[in-house]
This record gives sequence, structure tokens and C-alpha cells, in this order.
Amino acid sequence: MEDNQLRSRGWFGKTGKDGFIYRAWMKNQGYPADEFDGRPVIGICNTFSELTPCNGHFRELAESVKRGVWEAGGFPVEFPVMSLGETLIKPTAMLYRNLASMDVEESIRANPIDGVVLLCGCDKTTPSLVMGAASVNIPTIVVSGGPMLTGKYRGKSIGTSDVWRFSEMHRKGEISQDELSNAEACMCRSNGHCAVMGTASTMACMVESLGLTLPENAAIPAADSRRKVIAHLSGRRIVQMVKEDLRLSDILTRQAFENAIMLNAAIGGSTNFVIHLLAIAGRIGVDLTLEDFNALCEKVPLLLNLQPSGGYFMEDFYYAGGLPVVMKEMLGLLHQEAITANGKTIAENAATAECFDTDVIATLAEPIKDLTGLAVLKGNLCEDGAVIKPSASLKPELMNHRGPAIVFEDIDDYKARLDDPNLPVDDNSILVLKNVGPKGYPGMPEVGNMSLPKKLLAKGVVDMVRISDGRMSGTGFGTVVLHVSPEAAVGGNLALVKDGDMIALDVANRSLILEVSDAELERRRADFQPLELGYNRGYVKLHLNHVMQAHQGADLDFLRGGSGDKVTRDSH
Ligand code: FES
Ligand code: MG
Repeated sequence: MEDNQLRSRGWFGKTGKDGFIYRAWMKNQGYPADEFDGRPVIGICNTFSELTPCNGHFRELAESVKRGVWEAGGFPVEFPVMSLGETLIKPTAMLYRNLASMDVEESIRANPIDGVVLLCGCDKTTPSLVMGAASVNIPTIVVSGGPMLTGKYRGKSIGTSDVWRFSEMHRKGEISQDELSNAEACMCRSNGHCAVMGTASTMACMVESLGLTLPENAAIPAADSRRKVIAHLSGRRIVQMVKEDLRLSDILTRQAFENAIMLNAAIGGSTNFVIHLLAIAGRIGVDLTLEDFNALCEKVPLLLNLQPSGGYFMEDFYYAGGLPVVMKEMLGLLHQEAITANGKTIAENAATAECFDTDVIATLAEPIKDLTGLAVLKGNLCEDGAVIKPSASLKPELMNHRGPAIVFEDIDDYKARLDDPNLPVDDNSILVLKNVGPKGYPGMPEVGNMSLPKKLLAKGVVDMVRISDGRMSGTGFGTVVLHVSPEAAVGGNLALVKDGDMIALDVANRSLILEVSDAELERRRADFQPLELGYNRGYVKLHLNHVMQAHQGADLDFLRGGSGDKVTRDSH
């Protein structure tokens, strides 16, 4: 692209009053006049926040990006956007993913930016930035913040998946509050996001699989100097991407999405991947549906031995060679010609990859597990679909299970009664949690991996079938059916389940059946009362009025698609 066609010229290339205004105030930051001479202006979209600890090192990371941008002859401008930290935000960071994406979209479009570097880390900070950028569609590269170093506690490696283990041990009285606090101090011992294959790592792998990053971006630990190097190189590269006019829509093709789905199955990625990928596809205009996941995942075994599906951590993944190794192993299944941010195909990028530890990254010939990463279920309990991650199950025989429902009407009901000694539950029961979907909670929180009742834990029960319209943390595990669509709050059949109803889960046949007749369901539907959550203003009201169901990516309906990068009116 000729420099004089850059969109930033619509600001900095102007004469008269408008050009004066666009440049004069920028000059208060000490830029010489020739910064405005038509070089590519590169936005660095930063999700730094002290309330998003996983992204707490992003000011430094942005400096590395800037070095690369300056070096390549670009003009870097860093700007903040809404940052979503998984651990602190109530009721759930997911409630605000779409809001953050609006901030990103409008910030990019409204400003004199020719290309953008997205600094992504904690779970929602990746999809929200990619969704927003996709609706503008200028040249874009993602730099992930990188995982934390592996936690060390009493000589043992620990990570976020141990939060669930420790808390169950504490509930069973096996460890004291003091020991729990001690573990808490040992787990997050460096900069970075969760160190297991949770959602943040899954998202980092997703953007690398889609071709939105330089190779190896996903696994380099935040604390490793090579994280700064890849940020620096990405800064250099985005300047070239602007010159080549390589836009998100050139990279985010149907083939790229299919590659990401297959690779996610191979790495045992989080179930949240499904929702975020569908939302991104909706923004860039690629026709992707929940049904596409089964056919693509079916051929793919688990190749990566990372918690929660396996034993290792992201740090080990990097030392074993990282995602390019998995890509190389999978090339026969993937669309090899899919183009990536560095202008090369994924086959070219993976060509030199080498596996340094086959305990961590296995081969197709000898995979970690034959079970595929994700399965999409259908049936009268989830007419528009539901998702399960078979590789995260602790009792694979539950993949084919029939049992009576124990129903919790909402999260408060669940918390109040789960440990009630009189709850008529045994390990054959199926725990059903309603009203934790996109509208019901609101915001679809990560509560789907319900704890088991204390009295069953005491008997040594480790896993049960659990079903909800909510999500599960990517670090969670168990035989957990999630994302039931339509959700209970909009009157899906999930809302009609009663205690004792028989439910049949058959993952091999991808089915989830509520064994109640249609006639009886119709009778119950007549009594259905929609929830009144009491949000009458502000963003949450907008969310409730417009959020789509999980099988559509839970985006807001009016945000699908994009509006491009054009702005015609000047600011004064
Ligand atoms: Fe931020 Fe896990 S809490 S990635
Ligand atoms: Mg999470």
C-alpha cells in the first residue's frame, strides 16, 4: 500500500485547521514533526490493568512492541481499552466481553491507526480484542502476554487446576485453611496468565492457530526474555503488514477457523473456545456453526499432555517446542495453505518445528488419549446444542450414563442445598443447574463444574454427570455438560427438568435426552415463568435485550458483522 493511502493520512496528512488540531496536541508528547510524514501509525491496544493481574506486565510488553515498530519505521501509539480480569470481576468477566469488544472496535476505528497490535492475556482479553478488531478489519497482529511459570508447592508442580483440587480437599477436611493459604501464595509466582491449558492458554493457542500471531507466540512464558523478543518482532512485523495491506479478513478464512478447531481438539483446549470462536467468526463474516465442531474434532486425538486433561504445564509445552510442533504433527489434517500474520503459510511456519519432549507433545501414532477434545451434543434437553470435553472427564464410563436428575433452580438454590445431608443424591444421579446461561445469571459464569455433594466426596466419589447452561473454567475438569442451548432463562427444555426425571447422556452418539414425553413437557411449559433479574438500566439491560444464545457465540445481536474502517466526518 502507498503511504499516501494510509488511513492515518485522513488525520495527520491534513492541512489547515483540521491538520493543526490533529497534530498539535500529539506534539505535547514530544514528537518531532516528521513523525507525521506518512509513516504507518501502529496502535498498541493494551489491556494492562492492576485489576487484571494476568496482564499486569503489559506496560513493559508494550515497550517491546514499540521498539519493533520504531525500528521498522512506524509510529507506535499505545492506548488502553477495557480490561477483563477473570478472577475479580463479578458476576463474571463474560458479562463484559462484548462491551470490551465495543470499546476496542470503536477505539480503533475512531483513531488515526493504520495497523494494530492486540496485547491479550487473561481469558476474555483475547476474544474481546479480536472480536472488536475483526469488526474494523485493518491489519492486526496479536501478542499474548504468556503463561505464568509453573507454581511450586511442597516440591510439587501446581497450577490453576489445583484450585479445584485443593478446595475439594479442604471441604473434605484433608487440608487446613493454613495449608490452603500457603498453596495460594505458591501458585502464581510470576507474571503471566494461568499456566495450565485453561482458557487463557487456549485463547493464545487459538490466535496462533488462526494465524493471527508470529509462530511460537502461545507458549512462551511471560517471564521468559523471549516473550519480549516476540513482542518486539511483532512490532516490526505489523509495520510490514500495513505496507502489504494484510488484513484480518485475509487471514481469518473458513480454513483458518477449521484449523483452529482441529488444533484445539489436539491440545485439549477449553470449552470456552467454542463460544469465543463462534463469536469471532460472526464478526468477520465466516459462516461457522456449532455443528461444524463434531466433524472436525472427530478425527483428532489428544496430543498435548497438559493439565487439566493431562499432567504438564504451559512452561513444559514451550520447552517441548510449543504449538508449531503440534501443527507439524497435524499438517496432514490441516489446511496447510492457510496464511498467517508473517505472510507465510502454517505449513511453512511449522516446517522447522521439532519436538523436544514426547511426554508433553505426543504423536498421532501414539496420542495421549484417543478421546477427542470437544463434543457437541444434541437432543431434547439441548435443542440447539451443548458442549462436553471428554478429555477432562475423570470417569470415562460416565460418557454413556443414564440417571435421575437432582435439580437446582439457580446458583443460590445450588449453594444452599448441595451439602444438605438429606439431598436424595447418589453417584448415579445427574446434577442439573438452571439459570446460569447468557441471560440467566446474567453473563454465563464458569459455575458448570459444580462441586460434588460433601456426602459423596466422603464416600470417595470423584466424578458425576453435571449439566447446566453455564460455562466451566478452562482449568476445570469432570464429566460436565455445558452451554445448554436454549438456556433455562429463555424457556429452553432445561427450564422444565424436575427432580427425578431420567436423563440419558451418550457422548459417542452425541446425544443428551431428557426422558420426558413431549406432552408432559408442553404441560410444564405452560407454567414456565421467565426470570425477573431486576436490571432496568445500563449495560446489563442492553446485554439482556440483545445477547444471543451460547450456540451463536453469545455475542450481542447488533454486533455481528463489521462496519469497516471508514470514518468520514472530522472532529471539529
Ligand atoms: Fe487470568 Fe486464568 S485468571 S488467565
Ligand atoms: Mg476462566
